[in-house]
Amino acid sequence: MSLSDLGDVNLNQLENYSKDIDSNYISSLKLSNYRNYKSYKASFDKYPIAFIGKNGVGKTNILESISLMQPGRGIRSVKLEEMSYKHSGNFGININLIKNKESFKIGSSLDLGVSRLRKVKVDGKYISPLLLTEYLAVISLTPLMDKIFIEGATNRRRFFDKISWIFISSHAQNIRLYEKSIKERNNLLKENSNDTVWFNNIEKQIVKYGTQIIIDRLKVLNILNTHINDSNVNFPKASMTFIGEIENIFSENSDLDIFRDIFSKTLYEKRKQDIYRGITSIGPHKVDLLVSYKEKDMKASLCSTGEQKSLLISIILAVAKSYKKYTHLSPILLLDEVFSHLDNDKKQSLTKEIEDLKSQAFMTGIDESDFVTFNKDSCIINLDNSTNRSLNEY
Ligand SMILES: Nc1ncnc2c1ncn2[C@@H]1O[C@H](COP(=O)(O)OP(=O)(O)OP(=O)(O)O)[C@@H](O)[C@H]1O
Ligand SMILES: [Mg+2]
Repeated sequence: MSLSDLGDVNLNQLENYSKDIDSNYISSLKLSNYRNYKSYKASFDKYPIAFIGKNGVGKTNILESISLMQPGRGIRSVKLEEMSYKHSGNFGININLIKNKESFKIGSSLDLGVSRLRKVKVDGKYISPLLLTEYLAVISLTPLMDKIFIEGATNRRRFFDKISWIFISSHAQNIRLYEKSIKERNNLLKENSNDTVWFNNIEKQIVKYGTQIIIDRLKVLNILNTHINDSNVNFPKASMTFIGEIENIFSENSDLDIFRDIFSKTLYEKRKQDIYRGITSIGPHKVDLLVSYKEKDMKASLCSTGEQKSLLISIILAVAKSYKKYTHLSPILLLDEVFSHLDNDKKQSLTKEIEDLKSQAFMTGIDESDFVTFNKDSCIINLDNSTNRSLNEY
């Protein structure tokens, strides 16, 4: 199947878009019992916001709290209980979101005394955290991603899935259901089970959700590659491809029903072999994302530290711009220490890109000097001491 055969991309929020793309931002943030904050409150305008202050003051923690306004476990991908103030077992994050001139109160909280899962409320009503992308898109770039091209495939896959579900909300739910089915199949394998009916049922689910995951990832990959190819930014062009056994089979088959049959048969045939290792050896949970520096025809893993950071920025900018193009909404950007490793020319280009995007960007840095290139509308919040705090904090 060629990508053009995949049909129209059914992107989030396409139907109720507004032309007023500037009116999409977080207007206030309130933290209670979150990380090093017993309580913290701040209000924001729609322009870039830079948090500055010494090491350990709590800059990344604020960005992490905003990242919990998406499915998953935030920019650090750690256990929720680690995020509660001194591991007290409960926290609350509340934002006010302005979207198309409408206002939404969104809360994300944990109370270990009641449940290990976090609860999400929009205007007082509980929703699944997996549906948060229907309200806002958060795109992050943190120092934890600096080694993304060198480390194992899991983080690259997770990175791409976080991007995919801001475009296609159902992707987060499909990933959850797919992973549940894989876990169930792995349990059967470990038990050395010969319950054929049970195996067949689980594999049917794996094929159903797995196929949708492959399709949706490819749609988003295509959007991003096309955007990067056509765009003109002062960052190296990244080119992305998926490397995976099932993805190869997918690209060789023009008919979805035939593909599903082959996927199903392959799982069946691999049962015997998979039993030895107790894991499912084929499926979209095995895919790797290969990123290359296009102009140099060089794998990202072989590029310099600064080049790798620039490639990531090039991808993140493509995500933000494509999201804006398709949804007419601006994504929220979380850019943690993004200026480190960048030369002055690149720093200025990134500043310009952020301002042109008209996205609300939350950034961090040690010093004010990193943000002098931003225009007067941007806001600098110094977290170092309360007497020196911005008027935006209260
Ligand atoms: N659950 C928690 N309860 C209390 N404090 C915590 C908790 N988790 C982390 N901290 C503390 O929060 C502090 C701030 O961390 P954060 O990563 O936000 O700092 P930062 O300002 O980004 O620093 P840097 O400039 O080094 O990146 C750290 O000192 C850390 O020990
Ligand atoms: Mg930090």
